Amino acid sequence: MNKNSEAKFIGTKVLGTGSYFPKKVLSNADLEKIVETTDEWILTRTGIKERRVSEADEPTSQLAYFAALEALKSANISPQDIDLILVATITPDMQCPSTACLLQNKLGLKGIPAFDLSAACSGFIYAVSMAKAYIESGMYKTVLIVGAEELTKFTDWTDRSTCVLFGDGAGAMVLTASDESQSLLSVYLGADGSFSDLLFVPAGGTKNPATLDTVNQKLHSIKMLGKEVFKAAVPKMVYAAQKALELASKKLEDIKLFIPHQANMRILEAVAKKLNISMESVFVNLHKTGNISSATTITALDEAIKTGKLVKGDLVELVAFGAGFTWGAAVIQV
Ligand code: ACO
Repeated sequence: MNKNSEAKFIGTKVLGTGSYFPKKVLSNADLEKIVETTDEWILTRTGIKERRVSEADEPTSQLAYFAALEALKSANISPQDIDLILVATITPDMQCPSTACLLQNKLGLKGIPAFDLSAACSGFIYAVSMAKAYIESGMYKTVLIVGAEELTKFTDWTDRSTCVLFGDGAGAMVLTASDESQSLLSVYLGADGSFSDLLFVPAGGTKNPATLDTVNQKLHSIKMLGKEVFKAAVPKMVYAAQKALELASKKLEDIKLFIPHQANMRILEAVAKKLNISMESVFVNLHKTGNISSATTITALDEAIKTGKLVKGDLVELVAFGAGFTWGAAVIQV
């Protein structure tokens, strides 16, 4: 074979990660003053102790911006080195333009493509798969992906079954093409739209455009049949975790740390039990963040790296499940 005609290997390397949380803390004790609930109920049913809440003048793109700056710093590159921006979010600053375009402007960039993707709590893993595909096809070299959410601004504060669950935050990752290493060993994705009425925001789109009535009925906030979501989440997360391992030709014991979507401690324990892994190898930070949808896996990964729970060369598996339903998993070598 002529040497010049040999295809050059392109792998994807993780260059850096970052995260950002709003300063304001809302504890379970604070929630006791808002709805009929108790710290004990929230803690035993979910594992959540507190969550962060963004200010009125602090939109999702602002959290994304601070997380992106940290990721760029840890990657040791400047914003000008970025070729593409993807933001996974279901709580954008506004319907249009995308939060990714607003982030691009905050970063002082012009011209490079930027767009949002909507896959709820699996959003960051969907973004990882897109970054991998763009980089390994040779289309873009360096990609910034962000999971950023302000779920507290889509929360009905009179509905105790949902308002105790969610929080705000953002995480970011910089990935680049590499001809010698491959950090993204595998990504597996799935979805089933037939469950779209178990976890959704009923109004504000074309099906139920915003009216005074939709606002009065609180149809612009998250509605969830928690028990049904719980039942679906566990087997799908287990399946996704196994599929991504299979695609990476790795075994459970090769994984140093599992980072599941941080929705509920009982879901994490059930997934660990079904996978037959110890909770020692499962990263948990939901007690201080609540469920921040697409931002959970990346902020948890960033924390695991910063606190030394993961060191260079370790294998980590991200696993998520969310509205749609969507699910996915990724095996990454940090
Ligand atoms: N405080 C006190 N009592 C409460 C509260 C509360 N905050 N919320 C509900 N209750 C009551 C209910 O009214 C019910 O009372 P009843 O028995 O008198 O009718 C009782 O507690 C039990 O309610 P359940 O809904 O059955 O409680 P469950 O054990 O299922 O826990 C929860 C609810 C925490 C929501 C759980 O089902 C769950 O975590 N589901 C999955 C959520 C998830 O994974 N989401 C992922 C995707 S999120 C995304 O994509 C944005």
